[in-house]
Amino acid sequence: MSERLQRAIAQAGVTSRRKAEELITAGRVTVNNEVVTKLGTKVDSHDHIEVDQVPIQRESIHTYLFYKPRQVISSVKDNKGRKTVLDFFTDFSYRLYPVGRLDYDTSGLLLMTNDGELANHLMHPKNKIPKVYVAKIKGNLKAPEIKKLVHGVMIDHKLSAPAHVKILSNDYEKKTSIVQLTIHEGHYHQVKRMFEAVGHYVEKLSREKYAFLTLESLNSGEFRELSHEEVYKLRSL
Ligand code: URA
Repeated sequence: MSERLQRAIAQAGVTSRRKAEELITAGRVTVNNEVVTKLGTKVDSHDHIEVDQVPIQRESIHTYLFYKPRQVISSVKDNKGRKTVLDFFTDFSYRLYPVGRLDYDTSGLLLMTNDGELANHLMHPKNKIPKVYVAKIKGNLKAPEIKKLVHGVMIDHKLSAPAHVKILSNDYEKKTSIVQLTIHEGHYHQVKRMFEAVGHYVEKLSREKYAFLTLESLNSGEFRELSHEEVYKLRSL
């Protein structure tokens, strides 16, 4: 399958597509040892591409929807010897990595890919990809607190973007609530800190949805490859 040169460079994780275009027009890219400065030049998997004389790593592109269990770290290595998301993908020769992070004690939907361009697109704050979390919190969430979450709360001296909040259940005896929170930001411990900002400790957290994707038909620890249609849809978000 042929693709545009700038896309091949971006997909290899070298840089963004726009920066790849700059590298091409600056004459820093060769295809089969010839400098190519024309944007949109088509290449296929057999072409040898170098940026500043360094060959780019081209592999077939794959994206998986993974149901991350708790007690698994969302990085490709852990210096404390904990289980990582890559321990679930040992049979693959290409280098997958997670799109964003879920905390060690958070379960749920995590995309794993070797498509650098797709990962950049999904993680760029301007694209505002909605993510749906379900949290079990200490204490029952009250109307004024919901209002605050909806309007945004202060995290690191900045107001969080408005959230969508839905109480799924209240246990008035145990004094806990199960709350669905939809946000598009992805700061460190974002959901836990948002609830903390309105006085509730998150006991359990899972991500149930990422854009239009859900965990449907997967058990914890399982994954499936995304279809071309799903990847196309993610790209166009
Ligand atoms: N927000 C959190 O606090 N933790 C996660 O893992 C994801 C979002």
